Amino acid sequence: MNYLSQINKANVPQHVAIIMDGNGRWAKQQGEDRVFGHHEGVNSVREIVEACAEVGVKYLTLYAFSTENWNRPKEEVDALMELLVATISLETPNLNKNGVKLQAIGDLKSLPQSCQDELQESINITANNSKVTLILALSYSSKWEITNSVKEIAQLVKEGKLKPEDITSSTIQKYLCTANYPDPELMIRTSGEHRISNFLLWQLAYAEFYFTEVLWPDFRKDEFFKAILSYQNRERRFGLTSDQITNN
Ligand code: IPE
Ligand code: IPE
Ligand code: MG
Repeated sequence: MNYLSQINKANVPQHVAIIMDGNGRWAKQQGEDRVFGHHEGVNSVREIVEACAEVGVKYLTLYAFSTENWNRPKEEVDALMELLVATISLETPNLNKNGVKLQAIGDLKSLPQSCQDELQESINITANNSKVTLILALSYSSKWEITNSVKEIAQLVKEGKLKPEDITSSTIQKYLCTANYPDPELMIRTSGEHRISNFLLWQLAYAEFYFTEVLWPDFRKDEFFKAILSYQNRERRFGLTSDQITNN
């Protein structure tokens, strides 16, 4: 089945967010260690970034490491951090070649210094690219992000720079890590789990959700195109009636 040819290029989501889940289970199925699954997951990341460029998705946010993931066994956390450094270093020339701009959201200061440095270098090197913006959510959690936003707003109020009655949803949005990006229209979660796990709670307010049983290391271009097709077959009503949408 050629899913790509069925995609309507005029109705591609601008921003897709993905909870890349199931690496550990995938590895166990192969009789391997969980970390093997994380390594294989990098190949899926490479393909999905390419797929975004092919169909015209402008922003791709990948949930790569949550605040809660720090509580995993130390060996797994260390392996994930090492993999992150190695992958960014290895893939940066490729990102550049494909016009991909790298960005990151989350409590980045909590990452090991080597990760922060590698990340910053790649962000700088790819800063002028504009085909796809790849946003890695690292040491990210939505409750952490919203709490930070509230703290910054409270500080402005305290300093007399902002009146409480002037706070709107745009004010809150302005102090989120994602202030510079449009909200995702589509959120994908692999591995059969039907939960949001502290990911982009605010930004996904009106996103379409797509869940698949496929484990992240098996989630390749065709699976991604299938998700886009599912998105294109939905009616996004934003509180209106179906008649209001079709008569417009
Ligand atoms: C997702 O795969 C990657 C990260 C959370 C870093 P998991 O590691 O959660 O794999 P499962 O869900 O245990 O199979
Ligand atoms: C969510 O996956 C975080 C990432 C994909 C980075 P988890 O595997 O950590 O989520 P839960 O614990 O199953 O909800
Ligand atoms: Mg998981």
